[in-house]
Amino acid sequence: MNILFLGDLVGENSVYFLKKNLRNICVKYDINFVITNAENVAEGYGITPDISNNLFEAGVNVISTGNHVWDKVEIIPYIAKNYNLLKPNNLNNQSAGQGFILYETKTNKKILVINLLCNLFMRKSDNLFESVKNIMNKYILKKNCDAIIIDIHGEAASEKQALANYLDGKVTAVIGTHTHVPTSDLRILPYGTAYQTDAGMCGDYDSVIGGEKSKWIENFVEKPGFQKIKPASINHTICGAIIKVYEDTGLSSVAKQLILGDILENKIPDEKLFLK
Ligand SMILES: [Fe+2]
Repeated sequence: MNILFLGDLVGENSVYFLKKNLRNICVKYDINFVITNAENVAEGYGITPDISNNLFEAGVNVISTGNHVWDKVEIIPYIAKNYNLLKPNNLNNQSAGQGFILYETKTNKKILVINLLCNLFMRKSDNLFESVKNIMNKYILKKNCDAIIIDIHGEAASEKQALANYLDGKVTAVIGTHTHVPTSDLRILPYGTAYQTDAGMCGDYDSVIGGEKSKWIENFVEKPGFQKIKPASINHTICGAIIKVYEDTGLSSVAKQLILGDILENKIPDEKLFLK
């Protein structure tokens, strides 16, 4: 089984470019399951029901989010009913939605996806280690699920790496999101869990983390404070990780970075690594 994990979609143009390429990527690498973080997809802040539907129709199976999950309030009734759109499991509120899902694929594979939020350098959430432990008490690889994928959304590499090593050998992959910068540390940890500090952004890299450069500079230099920033939308790049899962253990056998599009040096893995 092969899984495609895509980093934060930023702005509606990222959806357009993903829709243009997703089917070809899935065929080329024989992808069985697609997850993407999309908490910055609606004008850079949050996600709407229409965009969620659009992504699901394009072939995304599960959408994860993070600190911007509630930026578009119209998502609240939608997330209450559509469990394929996740909120972080350790968000400390009683809001609608779920922080994990056991997703069954067309080929009857059960994939547990867990969405978590970091605490370092971010608004405080519940303890993410406790949060994931409570879920992991109920799920064991190859006992009641075929793969476990975790989106760890946050700033600090230390917190993400601690989580990945805490779960090494118990989950298929721990992949970071939120910084919008792809890190070149994708690897398989000693006990079989794939790990990357950040999958990177699906968006325009001629920007500051996906937003218009001039507005970001104004925010830092001319008008210190906060003004909303529109997504940059001229260039297009898809960033993510492709993970091949051992059928017998549910752990990772191959993990390769995918970078496709403008600005960044492209990384196009050899499809032979993922075909039987
Ligand atoms: Fe974020």
